[in-house]
Amino acid sequence: MTRDVVVHPDARVLAEAAAARLLTHLVDVQSHRSPVHVVLTGGTVGIATLAAVAASPVRDAVDWSGVHLWWGDERFLADGDPDRNETQARGALIDALGDALPAANVHAMPARSDDVPTPEASAEAYAAELAAAGSPAFDVLMLGMGPDGHVASLFPGHEALTVTGRPTIGVHGSPKPPPERVSLTYDAIRGAREVWVVAAGSEKAAAVASALRGAPVETTPAAGALGTERTLWLVDVAATEGLGTPSALSTTAAAFPAPERTPADLWGSVDEYFAALVPEDDALSATRRAAADGGLPDIAVTAQQGKLLHLLAQAVGARRILEIGTLGGYSTLWLARALPADGRLTTLEIDPEHARVATDSLAAAGVGELVDLLVGPAAETLDALAADATPPFDLVFIDADKQSIPRYLEQTLALTRPGSVVVVDNVVRGGAVVEAGHPDERVQGVRAMVELLTDHPRYDSTIVQTVGSKGHDGFALLRVRD
Ligand SMILES: C[S@@+](CC[C@H](N)C(=O)[O-])C[C@H]1O[C@@H](n2cnc3c(N)ncnc32)[C@H](O)[C@@H]1O
Repeated sequence: MTRDVVVHPDARVLAEAAAARLLTHLVDVQSHRSPVHVVLTGGTVGIATLAAVAASPVRDAVDWSGVHLWWGDERFLADGDPDRNETQARGALIDALGDALPAANVHAMPARSDDVPTPEASAEAYAAELAAAGSPAFDVLMLGMGPDGHVASLFPGHEALTVTGRPTIGVHGSPKPPPERVSLTYDAIRGAREVWVVAAGSEKAAAVASALRGAPVETTPAAGALGTERTLWLVDVAATEGLGTPSALSTTAAAFPAPERTPADLWGSVDEYFAALVPEDDALSATRRAAADGGLPDIAVTAQQGKLLHLLAQAVGARRILEIGTLGGYSTLWLARALPADGRLTTLEIDPEHARVATDSLAAAGVGELVDLLVGPAAETLDALAADATPPFDLVFIDADKQSIPRYLEQTLALTRPGSVVVVDNVVRGGAVVEAGHPDERVQGVRAMVELLTDHPRYDSTIVQTVGSKGHDGFALLRVRD
């Protein structure tokens, strides 16, 4: 992969050309795909680009009802604050589009309010909004770049750079005021089809040179902004000074090799490659979609992991399956489909809303009759099942609150038989599990499980690390001893 660089004479021409490029791109994409998802940026050139879009007669060639606008980052300020990227974008373009752009297509990052008191709350709400829209691959994601090489609100050396597994993050301690912000993560940025980095002025020259020469993302975050189909740098002559060879850069394009993708990118690509082996049918896709539409967190197993559970259930000839942690019923469906016609699956869920979404999806998928969904704290439900002398389960899948894993394993012994198999998900947690003093109680739950299982008289076990689109994690596989 290369990064294309287009050099314009100055910032004014750069903004006009970026606007023309964006309008033409929207029209092109709309000829074969709808809706189109665009991520806007703030900053001087970003806002000048939006103003140039508003002023162009070509804007009427775009069907704005099929365009969704998102933001790469936002200053965590009250609604209408003039420093918010949203406020500036409304002034430059959105207000001018009027009714042509439906209000529902404008996905601003939630402003500070009583309901959204922290950058984390805003980031979470924005992640939910992205999920509700089907986690779209952005068609164009525009990014301004600071003189320090930051993009969105991913600043050099900041911990936000290392966040994976979610699309948004609340940022504290931004070196550029205001200190509190909300940003897309690299995961979200790198899911975009096209990433356009826009930079003008000699104060950006050093960062442009570092990024294009492949500096590490820790020091030059812009170096890690890559699209899946294209990465385009739109710069003015002054911003190319640091490259040392401005005369070699034409006003057309020069290609710079893109840096190696990170291991996490590679894991995701490999998962995508193997996905063809495990296609989701309509019922599985509908179950995943219903969970996203219902605002449930995006923490279900992947299709590959679901199929692994399915194959395990078949391999042990499971007739009775217990699942702890239903969410929207995605893993439940994979497991239920491994059952014989007279099999049964009992799944436990604490959240009534999750249970409602799952019940609907499982019924629609045609396995509702095989599944008993029991709502309540799993520890209590497991006690109740044991007190009812429930016949033993052949396979148990534990995927709920990780801090309770040791307790669930103890309780599972009363609900299984020699030879029963137990799978526990998410037991590596990005490697955090090796840190004895880790403050996260979920990590401590896993560590307590490892202690419990070491030399356990009744469980035989192994733990396998995994990498994939969900990052670095792993699962424990246990068998109840004979
Ligand atoms: C990781 S999700 C389950 C994902 C699901 N197994 C899948 O892959 O499709 C964890 C679920 O456990 C539920 N949960 C959390 N604590 C619980 C508890 N104490 N008892 C029962 N369910 C709980 C959460 O509400 C959430 O829906």
